Amino acid sequence: MAIDNHEVIKKIICANFDDSSESYDRFEARYGLFRYLARELSSICNVSKGMSICDIGCGSGASTTALGELVGEHGKVVGVDFSREMLKAAEENARGGGNIEYLLGDACDLEGKVEEEAFDSVLYNASIFLIPDTKAALTTAHGLLEKEGIVGMNYQNGVFKDREAAGEMTWDDIFTEAKKAGIEYAPYGRSLMNPGQLPEIMDDIGFKDLRSGIMVREMQLEEMKEFYSIPAQSAGLYPKTPYEERLELLDSLISDLRKDGVTTVYQVWGWISGLK
Ligand SMILES: C[S@@+](CC[C@H](N)C(=O)[O-])C[C@H]1O[C@@H](n2cnc3c(N)ncnc32)[C@H](O)[C@@H]1O
Repeated sequence: MAIDNHEVIKKIICANFDDSSESYDRFEARYGLFRYLARELSSICNVSKGMSICDIGCGSGASTTALGELVGEHGKVVGVDFSREMLKAAEENARGGGNIEYLLGDACDLEGKVEEEAFDSVLYNASIFLIPDTKAALTTAHGLLEKEGIVGMNYQNGVFKDREAAGEMTWDDIFTEAKKAGIEYAPYGRSLMNPGQLPEIMDDIGFKDLRSGIMVREMQLEEMKEFYSIPAQSAGLYPKTPYEERLELLDSLISDLRKDGVTTVYQVWGWISGLK
């Protein structure tokens, strides 16, 4: 994909998140999904007291706040996002933690904004799959890390009807079925970047000791519905469709699931980490 195309896609994504800050925050206050994901990722990356972390794609601060608590007053977290509205919400949500700083910036171009080789860890909580130029982003992360520093990221894989299928990480998920029924589906993870290429990209950049796995979030249909009602999330689900229409498609997907007797689904997040 040509660079210009990347820039166009990034502008669309940024606009989607600018439109999402309120519903994103409402969802997070109710369900704590992103906080949960951030804590899981932190545990995988051994985040502990006193560490310095760069939280790229920090959004309205759910991950940054969770990280700030984990690193404590002697640690530091720098949250970076390119959506002004998400950052504004992050600043409003800031709970007096003096160890957190927020910066407006693009994940692929942080030169002069964030100190090089200053971080023990660079994390992408629910953001790497939104960045089309993955290699540029992870090269930036490599530059920000101290030697032996750890990069960690998670990405949305899909939503599954049964726990077993979720564990197998097949692509055969609810949305594939929805597509068969005539509903278009191209989640961010499959349209913007291919998570399957992450190990090769990381290896090329020079990351070592790569580890990977999955995180599974059990969701009631209500949570699933609210998640995919966030403008930026529904845009990943039903791209190139006006928002009102996306909500209608989501409603029919949820009611079909209810008709099938489904009450709980499993949202699967893949993760990968590597050392500098
Ligand atoms: C799904 S949200 C996750 C936010 C946060 N990490 C959390 O756990 O709540 C993804 C965020 O990544 C940001 N983002 C996407 N692409 C970006 C880029 N190229 N540079 C900076 N931020 C980006 C979006 O603006 C959005 O706020």
